[in-house]
Amino acid sequence: MKKLYVIGDPVDHSLSQVMHNAALKALGLDNEFTYDQMNVRKEELKGFIGKVRTGEIIGASVTMPYKEIIIPLLDELTTDADLIGAVNTIYIKDSRVIGHNTDGIGCIKTLEDAGVSISEKKIIILGAGGAAKAIAYTLALRGVKKLAIINRTKKKAEALAKSIEEKTNTIVYTGNFDLLETVLKDADIIINATSVGMRKISENQTLVTEDLIHSEMLVMDVVYNPKVTQLLKEARKAGAKTVDGSSMLVYQGTEQFKIFTGRKAPIKIMRKALLEVLDENSSKKN
Ligand code: ATR
Repeated sequence: MKKLYVIGDPVDHSLSQVMHNAALKALGLDNEFTYDQMNVRKEELKGFIGKVRTGEIIGASVTMPYKEIIIPLLDELTTDADLIGAVNTIYIKDSRVIGHNTDGIGCIKTLEDAGVSISEKKIIILGAGGAAKAIAYTLALRGVKKLAIINRTKKKAEALAKSIEEKTNTIVYTGNFDLLETVLKDADIIINATSVGMRKISENQTLVTEDLIHSEMLVMDVVYNPKVTQLLKEARKAGAKTVDGSSMLVYQGTEQFKIFTGRKAPIKIMRKALLEVLDENSSKKN
């Protein structure tokens, strides 16, 4: 059996195994591959990677808090992972452990699905953490028309913007939430890449309210649980188009599946499996 895992600490909130197992089963690959959750403590991370190097494990999805601290333990990074400075996928190739990042491409595919041509768009990213980094670098590389990064801690937004400007041709505007009203007037797309709005943690909170959103905007949330976050509720009230976080989660997973198995991922099956669990969660009381 070829062993795959999702690793993190904690990891039990992850829905990666739901999507990957549904896909393995649908393609009849469940006799060849296994995909499980593994809670790996920080001191166990090196040992886990050692097992990937020997081929005992052939790959893993990587989640919090390891997306950045795993990097020095790996043998090589793909161009995307190197640029973004974070890894959400590891795999074995020629006895070397490679780190890759599929979050950015997940966001691009989601926007493509929504019919967006990013070269014509002014996009605001809320947040400057791991998810925001992957999205911001990828949009910059793909030639977004205008990019602004708004973060509670302005310094982090500025550091990210500086690094993107050094590595790409994009000029990045930055600010904290005081600047939000001004930049929003001119924006086509808002992407929430902060954790605000997450189920059980800040479910009824949003960084942007209805009065700041106009009806021609597209509002996308990286938070996928709940499926309709408070931000998306506000956007709908304002008549804006919305994209929930499940789409990006599916696409970053389909990209991983291709890497792990060498097979094209059954997107519809992965999406259906994920949505079933999310719907189940939302019908449960908090
Ligand atoms: P991830 O890897 O999921 O992106 P992260 O790296 O911890 O997680 O980043 C979380 C992001 O959410 C950060 O941009 C954080 O803002 P700060 O840099 O100021 O900490 C943002 N965030 C979290 N809680 C927030 C809140 N209550 N209000 C505004 N921003 C918040």
